[in-house]
Amino acid sequence: MGDAAAWKRVHPAMRRRFPRLEEDQFENRRLYLNSAAGSLMVDSAAHILSQAALTLNPMPGQVTPAERATGDFHGSVRSLAADFLHARSPSEISFHVSSTAALWALSYGMRSVLKPENGVVVTDLDHMANISPWEDFWGRERGLNIRRAGVTPQGRLDVDHLLSIVDEKTGVLAVTMASNGLGTIVPLKDVVAAVKSKAPSCRVVVDAVHHALHGPINVGDIGCDALVFSGYKVFGPMIGVLWVQEDLARLAEPYRVETNKNEPPYKFEMGMLNNAVLASLEAALEYLLGLYEMLELGGSGKAEARPERFRSVLESVARYEAEITEAVLNGFRAFDPAAIRLFGLADPALVSERDPTFAFEVRGRSAEETKLRRWRQHRIQFADGNHYSAAVVRHLGRPALCRASFAHYDAADSARLLIEALGDIVEK
Ligand SMILES: Cc1ncc(COP(=O)(O)O)c(C=O)c1O
Repeated sequence: MGDAAAWKRVHPAMRRRFPRLEEDQFENRRLYLNSAAGSLMVDSAAHILSQAALTLNPMPGQVTPAERATGDFHGSVRSLAADFLHARSPSEISFHVSSTAALWALSYGMRSVLKPENGVVVTDLDHMANISPWEDFWGRERGLNIRRAGVTPQGRLDVDHLLSIVDEKTGVLAVTMASNGLGTIVPLKDVVAAVKSKAPSCRVVVDAVHHALHGPINVGDIGCDALVFSGYKVFGPMIGVLWVQEDLARLAEPYRVETNKNEPPYKFEMGMLNNAVLASLEAALEYLLGLYEMLELGGSGKAEARPERFRSVLESVARYEAEITEAVLNGFRAFDPAAIRLFGLADPALVSERDPTFAFEVRGRSAEETKLRRWRQHRIQFADGNHYSAAVVRHLGRPALCRASFAHYDAADSARLLIEALGDIVEK
């Protein structure tokens, strides 16, 4: 069965796994187009939260069955997250209250790695969570030279500019996998290779929070040294997952209480892990894995291993979402640009370079007003604000933009509904 036919067949069942997709908690019918701010939680990830809170022992340990079960459980969630990222070992995975907290922990942890002569490069395409920990701690507090790579007028990372500000002393490049403001994907494999050929000791820290629900991630293939994603952007709970490559993890010196084990991944973690949240993350990632069977991606060939199943699922998700992206971009094309302006890559031929996240403004109306009107009239829920995005705040210099963002649970028709609703506001 072809990809498109399989999606058509199973999509209604997939959508049913997200009980709040069509209705909010106040029983308002809605079209939820705000998955970049937080994807909806899959039913199994929600249900397991309370069960796990009752069943899991708070402390992992070696003696009683309950302690051992909790310890094994931590290991199995690390292993699942490692496979999601194609990491070499579960010991490269640590858990944090959020990706922001994880990035701060990693930034502090580079105290044993960065020297006063090193420089740090951040980008204007990033979320502030992968900028402030570097600018604030290493720039303002430690006095390192911080440089900022720009964004092209089309909304891509300006790779030529980036390479012009990297030199052999660059110690860290903090860069996103995709912009949560504009949706642009960064060609990370090429960027990392080019940066490392200029600065062989540079550590590349990737923010995959925006992209993690839209396509496969393979840390080895990217060639980066650390990467984060958030549970609540992959259909699960609020949690930050940090992968740090083994050598860097061993070298790093994060802030740590004396009695916490001084070895990865434990040394990165602050306090007891939240077992219920971990169980929920596990359920969300298992849901994604389950799409492999649902979409019959294995065909009749031999069963693929877990990392490959994640890859197949997310490649299929990317193909499905590309159709939505194309429909949205074609819809925006039909608008008078003087009335509605789409920011970022707008050409439908460039779908493979972007995630289904669309920043736009309606001339003469604030983002808040546009959002409110679309909600009242069409029950469409999208975002307004700066989205903590440097692309919006620094590159475009806007205090706020509207942002509509999609995920695989959205029906192909959602694109049409958004475009019709925006067309309406222009006419009135
Ligand atoms: C691209 C990106 N990076 C980082 C973050 C921060 O993630 P968290 O809320 O888990 O700290 C977000 C959240 O919106 C994001 O979109």
